[in-house]
Amino acid sequence: MKLISTIFCNLILINAAINTENGYCVSKDSCEETKNTLSDKKWLFYDVNPPEGFNLRRDVYMRFAILLSNEQKRGKLQEFGLVLPPWYKLYHWKTTKKREPIPWGNFFDIESLKSFAPVVELYEIFEKSLKKQLIIDTIYVLQNYENPFENDLFEDKWEVQEECPYVPQYWGYGNITANEIICVKFQGKISMLPELFQLHRNDKFIMVAQGEIPLHDNYGDRTYWKCRKSMKFNKKLTEIAFNYVKEKLNCDTELCKNYLGVHWRRQDFAKYRSKDVPTTSGTVKQIQNIMQNKLPHVQTVFIATDASAKEREILQNNLETLGYNVHYYVPNIAEVTEFDDGTIAILEQIICSHAAFFVGTHESTFTFRIQEERELLGFPSDTTFNRLCPDKGNCEKPSRWTVVN
Ligand SMILES: *[C@@H]1O[C@H](CO)[C@@H](O)[C@H](O)[C@H]1NC(C)=O
Repeated sequence: MKLISTIFCNLILINAAINTENGYCVSKDSCEETKNTLSDKKWLFYDVNPPEGFNLRRDVYMRFAILLSNEQKRGKLQEFGLVLPPWYKLYHWKTTKKREPIPWGNFFDIESLKSFAPVVELYEIFEKSLKKQLIIDTIYVLQNYENPFENDLFEDKWEVQEECPYVPQYWGYGNITANEIICVKFQGKISMLPELFQLHRNDKFIMVAQGEIPLHDNYGDRTYWKCRKSMKFNKKLTEIAFNYVKEKLNCDTELCKNYLGVHWRRQDFAKYRSKDVPTTSGTVKQIQNIMQNKLPHVQTVFIATDASAKEREILQNNLETLGYNVHYYVPNIAEVTEFDDGTIAILEQIICSHAAFFVGTHESTFTFRIQEERELLGFPSDTTFNRLCPDKGNCEKPSRWTVVN
């Protein structure tokens, strides 16, 4: 009986395939449902300017997820799903061996993302494809205005341009293409984007390139935090980090009391933003200061960093001389081959999120994401919004983006 119904369903599927104008099967569960949703469903793809890193991209995701969620609550864009752009050749992920685009599920809990917005992985769209190529109807390539303050006013506006420099990467896939590219100068809130989609009302596969250009409508409001909360890392990563905290740092609760978390950003920050970050010896002094003043009974420091092996060693030796236990996340042999840089960075973030006290790097999105996580966990904000200061000169306090429930 099971066999017969499978064959029967397959037959209908073939029928559905024949009847399909754009060649996509949207649901594998029900053939009838497939027929219906096929004609209705639309997909919103987006991409981000290649140099932008993982943690800024997480914020761009939130803008798109919030856009769709808000619109759908108002009865608009009902037929749309948001396609999660695979992670491909990220600038900071230097040692990443896997050159294949990485799906979001490798890092995030997809069910949790879905609880906030109708998201789907790109490979799921591929799986539903009955053709050899995925054809996007229109790509809207966004560009900044040359002068954002034209007439001394920052206005929300957009206008179609003749042309623009743009080489589509399609997240590293060679079998995706587009029918049309429209260049648009864009400035302002992301809720203005659906106006663009009116240019081609019947498109089913829409893509926004340079998706970092539109801004949040309301940064830090209740919806923002609801979306942020749904951006959970997947169970596997959460477990690995939790085990590390338990075994190496001797803490088995969420709000640990026995270690300091530090995000010590070096590399490009040390080179180009030396006015904002300390030297290695300045870092030692500041860590010592925090330990003495904020955590007098604590001996353990966990450091998340992109510093070179040499710099790590110097910092570690100096802190150990002062009597502290210093930890970096060092992947074991099995993990080295399995994990890419992105995975290790996430583990470091989770570990910093649970620290008794956290100090980060000025204007680093890696630091921002840790601060948000700590707000969600319920740490007092004083233990979270702290930064390493430059050795000399001004040290502006970090903005406090506190959670809104
Ligand atoms: C495009 O290529 C990828 C990787 O080679 C493959 O997994 C995917 O199924 C292909 N997509 C289509 C629509 O054939």
